[in-house]
Parts: sequence; structure tokens; C-alpha cells
Amino acid sequence: MHNMENKKQWEKAAKTYSTPHIRKKFIRTPAFLKAFGNVKNKKILDLGCGDGYYCRILAKKKAKMTGVDFSSASIKLAKKEKEKHIEGIHYFQSDIAKMPFLKDNYFDYAIADMVFVTIPTQKKYIQVIQEVHRVLKNGGTVIISKGHPANFNRVEKSKFYKLNYAREPSYFDSLTPQHVQITINGDSVKWTNYHRTLEDFVNPWLKNGFMMEKIIEPQPTHGALKKFNQYLKGTEKIPFFILIKLKKK
Ligand SMILES: C[S@@+](CC[C@H](N)C(=O)[O-])C[C@H]1O[C@@H](n2cnc3c(N)ncnc32)[C@H](O)[C@@H]1O
Repeated sequence: MHNMENKKQWEKAAKTYSTPHIRKKFIRTPAFLKAFGNVKNKKILDLGCGDGYYCRILAKKKAKMTGVDFSSASIKLAKKEKEKHIEGIHYFQSDIAKMPFLKDNYFDYAIADMVFVTIPTQKKYIQVIQEVHRVLKNGGTVIISKGHPANFNRVEKSKFYKLNYAREPSYFDSLTPQHVQITINGDSVKWTNYHRTLEDFVNPWLKNGFMMEKIIEPQPTHGALKKFNQYLKGTEKIPFFILIKLKKK
């Protein structure tokens, strides 16, 4: 799968993905917010911002947000939402591997929620890491997420969500494509994620000027688990996601 095909998939998937997703909302979002702490007046870059979900949440907490995504459909949705609610978020349609419109050493923080899982090659992944390094201030923080390795061979088939591996899953087989299909209100879209070992996910950051601050293995709250059991069941026992907090050296 080439980067161009990946972009095409995200042009199609943008709208359906923008529908609030229970696992994002009740597992990853609280973990990201806790890990960032007070974001007031912080300049934050949302890498692969999609429809601007995190830009809006963090802007409400008085962060100064910039969202970048290569999908024109996503950026269109983000700008439409922005007009309705919030001033002061800047959106750019661009590949996050090359963001010449952003200044060096500018951002305090960056966030990338479930973005690097969609990047099909290590070469491209490293280009993105180097670009994030350029635009972050020294000591700046980036938090990234992916599916948790304890759950790497998950195959799921529900009415709402289907996840399949393209070939027999082996943990050590980095970049195995995972086919994902979401159906919401009868609208069904597919895209491809790429499994990476933790070594292949984290070490490129450590080799390119970052150090690891901590890992986070989020669980849903008891309340959310009870209310949205259909979507969250099992996530209290086997972590579905892992967040990695890194600091620019
Ligand atoms: C799984 S979605 C996550 C969206 C958003 N971070 C969220 O959690 O709501 C992945 C997003 O990354 C974007 N993306 C993937 N590769 C990209 C690249 N190389 N440059 C810019 N955006 C990219 C896609 O268009 C898509 O919006």
C-alpha cells in the first residue's frame, strides 16, 4: 500500500470516522487529557487531526491549536465545525511528513492519536518524526498512540466494527496490514492500519532526538464500561490501546 492509496482511503473514511467513537471518547481521550495536564496558552500541534476532534477539546481548555491532516475531506469537516463553535484553531491540509508552513521550535506539545498506525512505511514514519522534532520546542512533548501489543492479534467482527489481518498475524511481522471497517448509521467505510512491534513504533523516536517520558495503558472508567458495555467489554481486562509520551531532547 502506497502513501497515495492511504490518502485516498482517508478522503473516503473522513466523514464516518468523525462520528464520535466510544473507545476513542472513553478510553483514549481521558488518557491524553490527563497526560497533557494544564494546556492553557500552550501551542499544540494535532498531527493527523481528522475532523478536529482534539483541536476542539483542547481549544476549549484554552490551548492554541494547529491541526494538520492530508485528507481534504477531514479538513473541510474540521473547518465547518470550527465556524460553529471555536475561534483560533488553525487548520492546514498537508502531509505531516512535510509541513514547511510551520516554524522551527514553535510548539509546546504535539498529539497524534491513532495516526502512525495508518502510515504504511518506516521511511515515511521517520520523516514525520524528524518533522515533529523540527517544529517542537526543546523539551517539548509529543504523545502518540496505537493498538496495545497485548491485543495485537485481535480479530473483531461486530455490526459496528470489523478488524481483520491481511495475513496470519505474527507480533514480529511489523507493517502487517490490518483491514478495518466501521459502519455507522448504515454508512460503511474501510481503511488499512499497519501493525508495528513496540520496537518499530518507539525506537525511531529515540534515534531521532526524543526520549521516552512514560507509557500509558488506559482503561475505561467504571461508569463508561457499564453504560457502553457493548463497545467497551474486554478493554478493562486486556488493554486495547497504548499511549507513549516522549520529550524532545
Ligand atoms: C485514524 S484517523 C485519526 C484521526 C484523529 N487523530 C482522531 O483521533 O480523531 C487517522 C488520520 O490521520 C490522517 N493521516 C494519515 N496519514 C497522514 C499523513 N501522512 N499526513 C497527514 N495526515 C495523515 C488521516 O487522514 C486521518 O484523518
